[in-house]
Amino acid sequence: MSHLRAVPDGPTGPRESTVPPRSGSASSVRVEAPGKVNLFLSVGASGPDGYHPLTTVFQAVRLIETVTARRQSAQDHGTVTLTLEEPDADVPADDSNLAVRAATLLAQTTGVSEGVDLLLRKRVPVAGGMAGGSADAAAALVACNALWGTGLSLPELSALAARLGADVPFPLTGATAVGSGRGDLVTPIMTRGAYHWVFALAEEGLSTPAVFRRFDEMAGGGQPALHDVPEALTAALRAGDARALAGSLHNDLQAAALDLRPELAEVIAVAEEAGALRAIVSGSGPTIAALVEDPGSAQRVSRALKASGLVADVLRADAPVAGARVVG
Ligand code: C5P
Repeated sequence: MSHLRAVPDGPTGPRESTVPPRSGSASSVRVEAPGKVNLFLSVGASGPDGYHPLTTVFQAVRLIETVTARRQSAQDHGTVTLTLEEPDADVPADDSNLAVRAATLLAQTTGVSEGVDLLLRKRVPVAGGMAGGSADAAAALVACNALWGTGLSLPELSALAARLGADVPFPLTGATAVGSGRGDLVTPIMTRGAYHWVFALAEEGLSTPAVFRRFDEMAGGGQPALHDVPEALTAALRAGDARALAGSLHNDLQAAALDLRPELAEVIAVAEEAGALRAIVSGSGPTIAALVEDPGSAQRVSRALKASGLVADVLRADAPVAGARVVG
């Protein structure tokens, strides 16, 4: 439970009328936000703040987190609470939860003191390199913005999102986008068609900071070069050509993730032998993302991964999908 403190100076900047509706009167607002896969991830040398400059291409996938923000009864007024729809989900339900931090940050920034009860349904693998926690935070921002009638625009919400984590702005935007800076500066890009993914989940998550640390160790004090998004990748996306996209998939964190979890190399091999166009580590891992040609291939790859005994679970999802939006 988080207690709110009103801070009068709200964010400035242009307000857009389209996002999100300035209701302020509903008793609850339900918002869906997607998980992501990185189609391309180039990592530069870390700066003095410990963060690494990134060039990445995010794609939002149809693994959807749902946050319902409910108006509180009078006696709870002024707190932020969180309930997990599946209580055994391996995420904290206290003030450290990113959705709680998001609601609290929005309240403090806009001077709202009324509080909120959040209900969270998780479908993105936890600590899997697919930004599920970031999607929860993005969904909480949009839900509370609508519930409280605070009327922040998408750019204003994105600025708050970046303060919560480098991956939080992207699920606000969704679809397919280039991320720069720490990954928090998001620019949508044009794509055509639908892409089909199979995700192989590991029994145990990987810590993002641990993977970045191993990346630094493997760079051995050298200065890793930050690369631009290859033209071949953006051309493949514009053409809706999954086969060409497969040839351009790249993740600079893959070697670090494989070093920490060598068995992931076998998972990649199983997916590719079963017909995946390409399989790579998703973000900081340990989820393996396999790009496949069509739903039939997705089924074959999924079956092979399950039969391998190497993975905890397998999920299928198409992409791209929309960013955080009010659904009820
Ligand atoms: O911003 P976020 O809290 O999601 O980042 C988690 C950790 O991942 C950071 O503390 C940092 O160790 C690492 N990170 C990084 N460079 C980035 C993004 C994340 O080093 N661009």
